[in-house]
Amino acid sequence: MQIYKVGGAVRDRLLGKPVTDIDWVVVGATTEEMLAKGFRPVGADFPVFLHPKSGEEYALARTERKSGRGYGGFTFHASPEVTLEEDLIRRDLTINAMAEDNLQNLTDPYHGQQDLENRLLRHVSPAFAEDPLRVLRVARFAARYAALGFTVAPETLDLMRQLSESGELEALTAERSWKEISRALMEDQPQVFIEVLRECGALKVLMPEVDALFGVPQPEAHHPEIDTGVHTLSVLEQAARHKQPLTVRWACLLHDLGKGLTPEEEWPRHIAHEHKGLKLIKAVNERFKAPKDCQELALLVGKYHTHGHRALELKPSTLLELLQSFDVYRRPQRFEEFIAACEMDARGRKGLEQRSYPQADYLRGAANAARTVAVQPLLENGFKGPELGEAIKRERLKALKTYKEAASA
Ligand code: CTP
Repeated sequence: MQIYKVGGAVRDRLLGKPVTDIDWVVVGATTEEMLAKGFRPVGADFPVFLHPKSGEEYALARTERKSGRGYGGFTFHASPEVTLEEDLIRRDLTINAMAEDNLQNLTDPYHGQQDLENRLLRHVSPAFAEDPLRVLRVARFAARYAALGFTVAPETLDLMRQLSESGELEALTAERSWKEISRALMEDQPQVFIEVLRECGALKVLMPEVDALFGVPQPEAHHPEIDTGVHTLSVLEQAARHKQPLTVRWACLLHDLGKGLTPEEEWPRHIAHEHKGLKLIKAVNERFKAPKDCQELALLVGKYHTHGHRALELKPSTLLELLQSFDVYRRPQRFEEFIAACEMDARGRKGLEQRSYPQADYLRGAANAARTVAVQPLLENGFKGPELGEAIKRERLKALKTYKEAASA
């Protein structure tokens, strides 16, 4: 048997990037031979094994035939006769279809190295269409390597468009899609992921609620970029620039969905878009089974982001409501993430990227003021049950009034 390093490890080494995961392909071996060498099988009908010591993935060279719709519809054909070239041709991109032996001799039948030099994400063969997840993968690689000047080859974009229009994307499981989406959002230029998906028509299928934001105007006074879709991309760009966590990036992407529902005659104003957007945010959250912290923050940011922007004008009672909704007493981190998302929203506007955001410190100060209210004295005064709750709220309101007065003095 011959063993080659394949995929991302070869690509990233040639790009001079750090290699974390190594995938191997094994040519000329049978399952029985692998098991005899101590490799552990990954799944019952999947010709992939884990190395007994390193735990790295070793896959038998295989060809794939599609037998039905979606990921469940694959049959794998692995046999000792399958050549390295046959294995590589069924992979997604030419830059991912190179192999290297233990002397670093490169096997590159589909010109991946040339595409690396030309900064092109190009599919290897029509077999690309066998896995519709690759539409998301290409968009993710475009986001990752945008800074290096990579773009998607026009013929690959065409194929992605065909796949998006064919209905194949709808067969993807929430888990597989979320894995790609969440990884793409954590790249340095996550806005490129959304742009590429939009360009090939996949955004309309995966997140029609986000797609609908393009072409929707906002008032120029607050949004010099005008277009809501363009604004959303800029907010995401800011979130990445400021190294925000996934929760914040997800909330940034979804914060303005309600604007896509505004009747045209009301444009460019979007009255109550925060509230109207909630059912859309919920739908997108559930479609991809986003983790609970992402779901929660997206809904809270959707509902309250304009409160964040108006923080300095809010009445103490409204401030208190905001703090209570976030449960800032037990969940301080979540409130910090809300503040970050609001700040990214404020900066994700043309020409306003460097603006200061005094609301952030003001909100932090308000949360601290409300937190200083001690429960013990109220207990000592005999409050209990719902009355205690009311008394705590009254004291917090008092603290916020004092805070607001001091801040505006
Ligand atoms: N691959 C593919 N189609 C997929 C998934 C993977 O063709 N849907 C192939 C590609 O050759 C890829 C290799 O399997 O390079 C390994 O896949 P994976 O580990 O998911 O990705 P990497 O390319 O290593 O990229 P990353 O750095 O994002 O992990």
